[in-house]
Amino acid sequence: MFKFSAKALLCALSLGVAGLGQAAESAPIVIKFSHVVAEHTPKGQGALLFKQLAEERLGDKVRVEVYPNSSLFGDGKEIEALLLGDVQLIAPSLAKFEHYTKQIQIFDLPFLFDDMAAVDRFQKSPAGQSLLTSMKDKNITGLAYWHNGLKQLSANKPLREPKDARGLKFRVQASAVLEEQFKAVRANPRKMSFAEVYQGLQTGVVNGAENPYSNIYSQKMHEVQKYITESNHGLLDYMVIANSTFWDGLPEDVRNELKQIMAEVTVEVNRQADALNEGDKQRILAAGNTEIITLSAEQRAQWRNAMQPVWKKFEGEIGAELIKAAQDANQ
Ligand code: LMR
Repeated sequence: MFKFSAKALLCALSLGVAGLGQAAESAPIVIKFSHVVAEHTPKGQGALLFKQLAEERLGDKVRVEVYPNSSLFGDGKEIEALLLGDVQLIAPSLAKFEHYTKQIQIFDLPFLFDDMAAVDRFQKSPAGQSLLTSMKDKNITGLAYWHNGLKQLSANKPLREPKDARGLKFRVQASAVLEEQFKAVRANPRKMSFAEVYQGLQTGVVNGAENPYSNIYSQKMHEVQKYITESNHGLLDYMVIANSTFWDGLPEDVRNELKQIMAEVTVEVNRQADALNEGDKQRILAAGNTEIITLSAEQRAQWRNAMQPVWKKFEGEIGAELIKAAQDANQ
């Protein structure tokens, strides 16, 4: 009796273990991809394309869940959530890494890049690529740079010269460089999470902001900003990152396929970002509530002269060589 039961138990156990093994084998790896912008933006589209390609090519092995618009985590919490394993992929703006690496602050320096082609060259250069691995010791793996685009200033008064910004409160991302940039024109920077910007502008907690057109339009900021100055004074791009323990622990075939997909999605996001921003600029104009101000070369030079001294303040943390490498990308 005992023998029989023991055998039966062993058999049941082994079946159970095998069953568990099968269940584990067939359970898809769930990748939560959380972000803070709308779906019809460069990052929003990139996350959806990543999901589509991953599920097409990896079948039952992987399920990607995309959470847009700060619906899972806002920008104040997303990196922490990634480190805790509550989300597997995020793509914060490059302005949001200063607690993890000082070097990435380079991307916030005002008037550093002449255009998006220069940004692209720098990001693809050895110096730019090295930043993807600069947070390894924090358990963060950088997988790719995704473009959004150049930022425009907005306010409820026309901003043509730096003195026009004096005394105004501007929303900034959580970045010491961006705070200094607005202090340089004697404005008052206010750190605020992305999800709160519309309301902040609407209620007058802040008077102005800096965003690419796609973020202005998709968050309806143009409804509460009478003027946009096409300043192209700074960059808003992203680094797609994973928790290193999660990423390195993926089965090799899955990780390799996801790397390949990420490379393809990156090409696509970066190819479409300009057009998305241009389309949203046109939609803002068509909405008729906001005047878009074009700066003369002389006015733009005034903004540059006023803001550029910020570079010196951060040169020690970022590194003069890295800044030189970025400037060299301007050809
Ligand atoms: C912002 O906070 O303004 C941006 O980082 C939002 C985004 O992700 O584009």
